[in-house]
Amino acid sequence: MEWEGTLPRLGAHQAPSESAIVNKLLTFPDPQAHPLSVRARALVFEDPKSARLLDTVERVAPTDAALLIIGETGTGKELIARHLHEHSGRKGPFVAVNCGAFNETLIESELFGYEAGAFTGAARAREGWFEAARGGTLFLDEIGDLPISQQVKLLRVLQERQVVRVGSRTPINIDVRLVAATNVDLTQAVESGHFRRDLWYRLNVATVDLPPLRDRPGDILPLADHFIGQYSSKLRLPPAALSDDARDALIRYPWPGNIRELENVIHYALIVGNDGLIRERDLKFPVVSCGSLLDQRPAQSVHAIGSAQNTSLEEVLHRLIDQATPDLFDHVETMLVNTAYEFCERNQVRTARLLGISRNILRSHLMRLNILPKRQPSSHGRAANTAASDSQLVC
Ligand SMILES: Nc1ncnc2c1ncn2[C@@H]1O[C@H](COP(=O)(O)OP(=O)(O)OP(=O)(O)O)[C@@H](O)[C@H]1O
Ligand SMILES: [Mg+2]
Repeated sequence: MEWEGTLPRLGAHQAPSESAIVNKLLTFPDPQAHPLSVRARALVFEDPKSARLLDTVERVAPTDAALLIIGETGTGKELIARHLHEHSGRKGPFVAVNCGAFNETLIESELFGYEAGAFTGAARAREGWFEAARGGTLFLDEIGDLPISQQVKLLRVLQERQVVRVGSRTPINIDVRLVAATNVDLTQAVESGHFRRDLWYRLNVATVDLPPLRDRPGDILPLADHFIGQYSSKLRLPPAALSDDARDALIRYPWPGNIRELENVIHYALIVGNDGLIRERDLKFPVVSCGSLLDQRPAQSVHAIGSAQNTSLEEVLHRLIDQATPDLFDHVETMLVNTAYEFCERNQVRTARLLGISRNILRSHLMRLNILPKRQPSSHGRAANTAASDSQLVC
């Protein structure tokens, strides 16, 4: 079905259906079918704002309308796009492409494919992401990074529903639902001439405004509990609980990095805590953002930032030594590898570079920590999966 009508801007302000008001924990039908780099297997939406938004997404899902998801970094844009695909009834794959990951010359052949001999090195023809997503959903992340020269081509594809591979003149029909995401205000990019107004109108058929975590406080603790469950089992730790002061601190913190930051804070707390109770002191809020956070935080919470600001690596180590943490060396090594891996969004190449070790050594650590499977069915298949997760995802 082609939906040509203009949808209203979809946001948390719309009236919820009865089913959306109840708290929601949704699980993907086949979690194992999703790639390793997508960490959450379930979506937590308990704040009434999020529940309304989820309801809206599920109502738009079965249409063919292009969708633009707007939200700060780490708010769950990709998860929402996947959820939309799951509910779309489309049989084809979900393909995610980060527009910022390719340079201007590469992006065209990546998106639209190329014919043999189209350019030096193009020994064989290759389909692009539009063709790969046939019958499914193509998620273009960071759409604001698409070079202006490619914006006009994308517009044509959306209008004609056809792609032309680089080096070819023959159009290929495509049946793809397009979902785009941005964490920057595209209206400003349109005003300044960096984003085509006609493409913006075309993508803007329906818009989902994903609120930052600080504006949906009812999600914070359920998400924290969700991540505690997820990471406890991943790290093979017994179930942990949050102390009252930790709960208060989580609620007070403004979460500039949103859900991804909450996930990392919980992950770290599980690694440094050792008695099944996560206390405020185990929550490490990033030092870098303290200056701006002090402006955003309510007055009564300033002391928590102060303590975060003063936490140095040496102090953390002293605390672990004071507490006579068992297996301290393993503990610290695990923490370092895990934190760096999460920081690099589970990209092995970037993590290895960050830690100054080879990718093979990183992989052996990840296998030891059971983050990567120890035995793989075929090294070729594994390599392909890893490479895919570094720049794009197909499931
Ligand atoms: N509602 C949710 N329930 C559970 N986990 C979530 C939810 N939303 C996001 N997450 C988790 O938070 C992390 C960030 O989500 P995601 O990658 O979708 O955000 P994003 O907005 O695309 O981020 P970025 O702007 O950095 O690309 C992921 O690990 C994801 O699994
Ligand atoms: Mg994303």
